[in-house]
Amino acid sequence: MDASQKLVYKGYTLCPNTDISKLENGVLEKFLRHDDIIVQGFPKSGNTWMIFLLQELYPDLNVFQHGDKKVPPMLEWLIIEPTMFGEVDTPLLNTVKSFQMNPSVTSSPRLIKSHLPYEVFPKQALQTGTKVIYIARNPKDVVTSSYHWFCRTNFMKGKVTREGHLKNFIDRIIPSTPWVDHVAGWREHSEDENVLCVTYEDMVKDTKTTVRAITEFLGRPVPESHLENAISKTSFDNLRNNPTSASKIDIDETFMPNYVAGYFRKGKVGDWKNHFTVAENEMFDDVIVKKLKEKGIEFVYEL
Ligand code: A3P
Repeated sequence: MDASQKLVYKGYTLCPNTDISKLENGVLEKFLRHDDIIVQGFPKSGNTWMIFLLQELYPDLNVFQHGDKKVPPMLEWLIIEPTMFGEVDTPLLNTVKSFQMNPSVTSSPRLIKSHLPYEVFPKQALQTGTKVIYIARNPKDVVTSSYHWFCRTNFMKGKVTREGHLKNFIDRIIPSTPWVDHVAGWREHSEDENVLCVTYEDMVKDTKTTVRAITEFLGRPVPESHLENAISKTSFDNLRNNPTSASKIDIDETFMPNYVAGYFRKGKVGDWKNHFTVAENEMFDDVIVKKLKEKGIEFVYEL
Protein backbone atom coordinates (compact mmCIF):
# COMPACT_ATOMS: atom_id res chain seq x y z
CA MET A 1 0.00 0.00 0.00
CA ASP A 2 1.27 3.42 -0.88
CA ALA A 3 0.77 6.24 1.65
CA SER A 4 0.82 8.84 -1.13
CA GLN A 5 -2.39 7.37 -2.63
CA LYS A 6 -4.23 7.35 0.70
CA LEU A 7 -7.88 8.45 0.48
CA VAL A 8 -9.55 9.37 3.77
CA TYR A 9 -13.31 9.79 4.13
CA LYS A 10 -15.14 10.28 7.45
CA GLY A 11 -11.94 9.31 9.25
CA TYR A 12 -11.43 6.02 7.34
CA THR A 13 -8.92 5.03 4.70
CA LEU A 14 -10.82 3.86 1.64
CA CYS A 15 -9.49 2.23 -1.54
CA PRO A 16 -7.80 5.00 -3.53
CA ASN A 17 -10.07 4.38 -6.52
CA THR A 18 -13.25 5.18 -4.53
CA ASP A 19 -15.49 7.79 -6.12
CA ILE A 20 -16.67 9.80 -3.10
CA SER A 21 -19.25 11.69 -5.17
CA LYS A 22 -21.11 8.41 -5.77
CA LEU A 23 -21.19 7.78 -2.03
CA GLU A 24 -22.52 11.25 -1.39
CA ASN A 25 -25.09 10.98 -4.15
CA GLY A 26 -26.76 8.04 -2.42
CA VAL A 27 -25.75 5.30 -4.88
CA LEU A 28 -25.67 2.70 -2.09
CA GLU A 29 -29.03 3.73 -0.61
CA LYS A 30 -30.64 3.38 -4.03
CA PHE A 31 -29.15 -0.09 -4.54
CA LEU A 32 -30.10 -1.71 -1.22
CA ARG A 33 -33.40 -3.50 -0.63
CA HIS A 34 -35.29 -4.20 2.59
CA ASP A 35 -34.67 -7.95 2.37
CA ASP A 36 -30.93 -7.86 1.59
CA ILE A 37 -28.53 -9.67 3.90
CA ILE A 38 -25.09 -8.10 4.15
CA VAL A 39 -21.97 -9.77 5.47
CA GLN A 40 -19.91 -6.96 6.82
CA GLY A 41 -16.46 -7.00 8.39
CA PHE A 42 -12.91 -5.70 8.30
CA PRO A 43 -10.97 -7.64 5.62
CA LYS A 44 -9.47 -10.96 6.80
CA SER A 45 -11.93 -11.38 9.68
CA GLY A 46 -13.74 -14.45 8.35
CA ASN A 47 -16.08 -12.74 5.86
CA THR A 48 -15.75 -15.50 3.26
CA TRP A 49 -16.50 -18.24 5.76
CA MET A 50 -19.67 -16.38 6.79
CA ILE A 51 -20.75 -16.00 3.17
CA PHE A 52 -20.25 -19.68 2.37
CA LEU A 53 -22.12 -20.61 5.56
CA LEU A 54 -25.11 -18.42 4.71
CA GLN A 55 -25.23 -19.86 1.21
CA GLU A 56 -25.36 -23.38 2.62
CA LEU A 57 -27.97 -22.43 5.22
CA TYR A 58 -30.18 -20.56 2.76
CA PRO A 59 -29.85 -21.74 -0.85
CA ASP A 60 -32.53 -19.21 -1.88
CA LEU A 61 -30.14 -16.28 -1.28
CA ASN A 62 -29.20 -14.85 -4.67
CA VAL A 63 -25.79 -13.60 -5.73
CA PHE A 64 -24.36 -11.93 -8.81
CA GLN A 65 -23.61 -14.15 -11.77
CA HIS A 66 -20.87 -13.27 -14.24
CA GLY A 67 -19.44 -15.95 -16.53
CA ASP A 68 -18.64 -19.01 -14.45
CA LYS A 69 -18.57 -17.00 -11.21
CA LYS A 70 -21.53 -16.76 -8.84
CA VAL A 71 -20.48 -14.31 -6.17
CA PRO A 72 -22.12 -12.01 -3.66
CA PRO A 73 -21.59 -8.51 -5.04
CA MET A 74 -19.54 -6.12 -2.97
CA LEU A 75 -21.22 -2.83 -2.03
CA GLU A 76 -17.95 -1.04 -2.72
CA TRP A 77 -18.06 -2.16 -6.37
CA LEU A 78 -20.73 0.50 -6.87
CA ILE A 79 -18.49 3.34 -5.76
CA ILE A 80 -15.12 2.51 -7.33
CA GLU A 81 -13.48 3.24 -10.63
CA PRO A 82 -12.75 -0.27 -11.95
CA THR A 83 -9.06 0.36 -12.67
CA MET A 84 -7.77 -0.77 -9.33
CA PHE A 85 -4.16 -1.53 -9.96
CA GLY A 86 -3.58 -0.10 -13.37
CA GLU A 87 -4.94 -3.15 -15.20
CA VAL A 88 -8.21 -2.76 -17.09
CA ASP A 89 -9.23 -6.19 -18.27
CA THR A 90 -8.73 -8.69 -15.48
CA PRO A 91 -11.64 -11.07 -14.85
CA LEU A 92 -12.33 -9.38 -11.49
CA LEU A 93 -12.48 -5.91 -13.01
CA ASN A 94 -14.75 -7.22 -15.76
CA THR A 95 -17.07 -8.63 -13.09
CA VAL A 96 -17.08 -5.25 -11.36
CA LYS A 97 -17.82 -3.44 -14.62
CA SER A 98 -20.59 -5.87 -15.51
CA PHE A 99 -22.13 -5.38 -12.06
CA GLN A 100 -21.89 -1.61 -12.37
CA MET A 101 -23.75 -1.72 -15.68
CA ASN A 102 -26.72 -3.55 -14.19
CA PRO A 103 -26.55 -3.64 -10.39
CA SER A 104 -30.23 -4.51 -9.96
CA VAL A 105 -30.15 -7.66 -12.10
CA THR A 106 -30.12 -10.02 -9.11
CA SER A 107 -33.51 -10.89 -7.69
CA SER A 108 -34.34 -10.86 -3.98
CA PRO A 109 -33.46 -12.06 -1.44
CA ARG A 110 -29.82 -11.10 -2.06
CA LEU A 111 -26.59 -11.89 -0.26
CA ILE A 112 -24.14 -8.98 -0.40
CA LYS A 113 -20.74 -8.32 1.12
CA SER A 114 -19.00 -5.19 2.27
CA HIS A 115 -16.08 -3.92 4.32
CA LEU A 116 -17.56 -0.47 4.93
CA PRO A 117 -17.28 1.17 8.35
CA TYR A 118 -20.57 1.99 10.08
CA GLU A 119 -19.98 5.70 9.55
CA VAL A 120 -19.81 5.23 5.77
CA PHE A 121 -22.49 2.55 5.42
CA PRO A 122 -25.91 3.78 4.16
CA LYS A 123 -27.82 3.82 7.46
CA GLN A 124 -31.19 4.42 5.86
CA ALA A 125 -31.07 0.80 4.63
CA LEU A 126 -30.93 -0.48 8.21
CA GLN A 127 -34.12 1.39 8.99
CA THR A 128 -35.94 -0.23 6.11
CA GLY A 129 -34.99 -3.77 7.09
CA THR A 130 -31.66 -4.60 5.42
CA LYS A 131 -29.84 -6.93 7.79
CA VAL A 132 -26.14 -6.70 8.58
CA ILE A 133 -24.07 -9.49 10.10
CA TYR A 134 -20.80 -7.94 11.28
CA ILE A 135 -17.92 -10.32 11.87
CA ALA A 136 -14.89 -9.19 13.87
CA ARG A 137 -11.65 -10.99 14.67
CA ASN A 138 -8.81 -10.25 17.07
CA PRO A 139 -6.52 -7.66 15.48
CA LYS A 140 -3.31 -9.68 15.82
CA ASP A 141 -4.72 -12.49 13.69
CA VAL A 142 -6.31 -9.97 11.29
CA VAL A 143 -2.99 -8.28 10.60
CA THR A 144 -1.20 -11.64 10.31
CA SER A 145 -3.81 -12.94 7.86
CA SER A 146 -3.73 -9.75 5.81
CA TYR A 147 0.07 -9.75 5.65
CA HIS A 148 0.03 -13.24 4.13
CA TRP A 149 -2.79 -12.17 1.85
CA PHE A 150 -0.93 -9.16 0.45
CA CYS A 151 2.26 -11.23 0.00
CA ARG A 152 0.37 -13.65 -2.22
CA THR A 153 -1.23 -11.08 -4.51
CA ASN A 154 0.41 -10.39 -7.85
CA PHE A 155 0.24 -6.64 -7.26
CA MET A 156 1.96 -6.60 -3.84
CA LYS A 157 4.18 -9.68 -3.99
CA GLY A 158 7.79 -8.76 -3.13
CA LYS A 159 6.81 -5.23 -2.09
CA VAL A 160 5.57 -5.94 1.41
CA THR A 161 7.51 -6.74 4.58
CA ARG A 162 5.91 -7.93 7.78
CA GLU A 163 7.25 -4.98 9.75
CA GLY A 164 6.06 -2.56 7.07
CA HIS A 165 2.64 -4.19 6.98
CA LEU A 166 2.22 -3.91 10.76
CA LYS A 167 3.21 -0.26 10.55
CA ASN A 168 0.76 0.37 7.68
CA PHE A 169 -2.02 -1.23 9.74
CA ILE A 170 -1.30 1.02 12.71
CA ASP A 171 -0.60 4.12 10.62
CA ARG A 172 -3.96 3.71 8.83
CA ILE A 173 -2.51 3.20 5.38
CA ILE A 174 -4.35 -0.07 4.73
CA PRO A 175 -7.92 0.38 3.38
CA SER A 176 -10.71 0.13 6.01
CA THR A 177 -8.43 1.26 8.86
CA PRO A 178 -8.48 2.50 11.62
CA TRP A 179 -9.30 -1.04 12.69
CA VAL A 180 -10.31 -0.10 16.27
CA ASP A 181 -12.87 2.42 15.03
CA HIS A 182 -14.17 -0.02 12.41
CA VAL A 183 -14.95 -2.60 15.09
CA ALA A 184 -16.15 -0.08 17.69
CA GLY A 185 -18.35 1.72 15.15
CA TRP A 186 -20.36 -1.43 14.41
CA ARG A 187 -20.23 -2.73 17.99
CA GLU A 188 -21.95 0.43 19.22
CA HIS A 189 -24.91 -0.67 17.13
CA SER A 190 -24.91 -4.32 18.11
CA GLU A 191 -28.23 -3.87 19.93
CA ASP A 192 -29.91 -2.38 16.85
CA GLU A 193 -32.70 -4.48 15.42
CA ASN A 194 -30.99 -5.09 12.09
CA VAL A 195 -27.37 -5.50 13.18
CA LEU A 196 -25.83 -8.67 14.57
CA CYS A 197 -22.19 -8.65 15.74
CA VAL A 198 -20.32 -11.95 15.99
CA THR A 199 -16.66 -12.85 16.38
CA TYR A 200 -14.43 -15.17 14.42
CA GLU A 201 -13.18 -16.63 17.69
CA ASP A 202 -16.72 -17.57 18.79
CA MET A 203 -17.33 -19.09 15.37
CA VAL A 204 -14.22 -21.26 15.71
CA LYS A 205 -14.88 -22.20 19.35
CA ASP A 206 -18.57 -22.98 19.06
CA THR A 207 -19.75 -22.67 15.48
CA LYS A 208 -23.18 -24.09 16.22
CA THR A 209 -24.13 -21.54 18.90
CA THR A 210 -23.06 -18.64 16.68
CA VAL A 211 -24.85 -20.02 13.64
CA ARG A 212 -28.00 -20.63 15.70
CA ALA A 213 -27.86 -16.96 16.80
CA ILE A 214 -27.56 -15.94 13.16
CA THR A 215 -30.65 -17.94 12.15
CA GLU A 216 -32.62 -16.34 15.00
CA PHE A 217 -31.43 -12.86 14.05
CA LEU A 218 -32.53 -13.44 10.47
CA GLY A 219 -35.84 -14.83 11.68
CA ARG A 220 -35.21 -17.90 9.53
CA PRO A 221 -34.93 -20.99 11.74
CA VAL A 222 -33.59 -24.17 10.15
CA PRO A 223 -33.81 -27.80 11.29
CA GLU A 224 -30.92 -29.06 13.42
CA SER A 225 -29.73 -31.51 10.76
CA HIS A 226 -29.62 -28.78 8.11
CA LEU A 227 -27.66 -26.49 10.41
CA GLU A 228 -25.15 -29.23 11.20
CA ASN A 229 -24.80 -30.09 7.54
CA ALA A 230 -24.15 -26.43 6.61
CA ILE A 231 -21.49 -26.15 9.31
CA SER A 232 -19.80 -29.34 8.20
CA LYS A 233 -19.83 -28.39 4.50
CA THR A 234 -18.20 -25.02 5.32
CA SER A 235 -15.51 -26.30 7.66
CA PHE A 236 -12.08 -24.93 6.86
CA ASP A 237 -10.86 -28.19 5.29
CA ASN A 238 -13.97 -28.64 3.21
CA LEU A 239 -13.86 -25.10 1.82
CA ARG A 240 -10.15 -25.29 1.07
CA ASN A 241 -10.41 -28.65 -0.65
CA ASN A 242 -13.73 -28.26 -2.45
CA PRO A 243 -13.19 -27.73 -6.20
CA THR A 244 -16.40 -25.62 -6.42
CA SER A 245 -15.09 -23.04 -3.91
CA ALA A 246 -13.25 -21.18 -6.69
CA SER A 247 -16.47 -20.46 -8.62
CA LYS A 248 -17.97 -18.76 -5.52
CA ILE A 249 -15.03 -16.40 -4.97
CA ASP A 250 -14.81 -13.18 -6.96
CA ILE A 251 -11.05 -13.02 -7.53
CA ASP A 252 -9.01 -14.95 -10.07
CA GLU A 253 -5.51 -16.17 -10.92
CA THR A 254 -4.43 -12.80 -12.35
CA PHE A 255 -5.09 -11.29 -8.93
CA MET A 256 -3.62 -14.12 -6.85
CA PRO A 257 -2.20 -17.46 -7.94
CA ASN A 258 -3.90 -20.40 -6.19
CA TYR A 259 -6.40 -18.00 -4.60
CA VAL A 260 -8.61 -20.62 -2.94
CA ALA A 261 -5.66 -21.62 -0.77
CA GLY A 262 -5.08 -17.89 -0.23
CA TYR A 263 -8.60 -17.36 1.07
CA PHE A 264 -8.49 -20.49 3.22
CA ARG A 265 -4.93 -20.19 4.49
CA LYS A 266 -4.76 -21.52 8.05
CA GLY A 267 -8.10 -20.89 9.77
CA LYS A 268 -6.83 -20.75 13.35
CA VAL A 269 -7.11 -18.49 16.37
CA GLY A 270 -3.64 -17.44 17.55
CA ASP A 271 -1.52 -17.85 14.41
CA TRP A 272 -0.12 -14.38 15.21
CA LYS A 273 2.04 -16.05 17.88
CA ASN A 274 4.02 -17.76 15.13
CA HIS A 275 4.85 -14.39 13.59
CA PHE A 276 4.91 -11.51 16.10
CA THR A 277 8.16 -10.69 17.90
CA VAL A 278 7.94 -9.87 21.61
CA ALA A 279 8.52 -6.18 20.82
CA GLU A 280 5.81 -6.16 18.13
CA ASN A 281 3.37 -7.78 20.49
CA GLU A 282 4.05 -5.17 23.15
CA MET A 283 3.71 -2.38 20.63
CA PHE A 284 0.40 -3.82 19.38
CA ASP A 285 -0.90 -4.17 22.94
CA ASP A 286 0.06 -0.60 23.61
CA VAL A 287 -1.39 0.97 20.47
CA ILE A 288 -4.36 -1.23 19.52
CA VAL A 289 -5.43 -3.46 22.42
CA LYS A 290 -5.27 -0.61 24.94
CA LYS A 291 -7.53 1.54 22.78
CA LEU A 292 -9.97 -1.34 22.44
CA LYS A 293 -10.13 -1.79 26.20
CA GLU A 294 -10.83 1.92 26.63
CA LYS A 295 -13.87 1.36 24.43
CA GLY A 296 -14.89 -1.65 26.51
CA ILE A 297 -14.11 -4.20 23.79
CA GLU A 298 -12.22 -7.42 24.46
CA PHE A 299 -11.09 -10.16 22.09
CA VAL A 300 -9.83 -13.69 22.54
CA TYR A 301 -6.24 -14.10 21.26
CA GLU A 302 -5.83 -17.84 21.66
CA LEU A 303 -8.07 -20.84 22.23
P1 A3P B 1 -6.08 -17.00 7.99
O1 A3P B 1 -5.38 -16.21 6.94
O2 A3P B 1 -5.63 -16.64 9.37
O3 A3P B 1 -6.04 -18.46 7.73
P2 A3P B 1 -11.75 -13.11 4.99
O4 A3P B 1 -12.66 -14.09 4.37
O5 A3P B 1 -12.45 -12.03 5.76
O6 A3P B 1 -10.75 -12.61 4.01
O7 A3P B 1 -10.95 -13.90 6.14
C1 A3P B 1 -9.99 -14.86 5.80
C2 A3P B 1 -9.61 -15.64 7.04
O8 A3P B 1 -10.70 -16.49 7.43
C3 A3P B 1 -8.41 -16.55 6.76
O9 A3P B 1 -7.62 -16.57 7.95
C4 A3P B 1 -9.11 -17.87 6.50
O10 A3P B 1 -8.30 -19.01 6.62
C5 A3P B 1 -10.22 -17.84 7.54
N1 A3P B 1 -11.27 -18.81 7.25
C6 A3P B 1 -11.95 -18.96 6.10
N2 A3P B 1 -12.82 -19.99 6.18
C7 A3P B 1 -12.69 -20.50 7.41
C8 A3P B 1 -13.33 -21.60 8.11
N3 A3P B 1 -14.23 -22.36 7.54
N4 A3P B 1 -12.95 -21.83 9.39
C9 A3P B 1 -12.01 -21.07 9.99
N5 A3P B 1 -11.38 -20.03 9.39
C10 A3P B 1 -11.71 -19.75 8.11
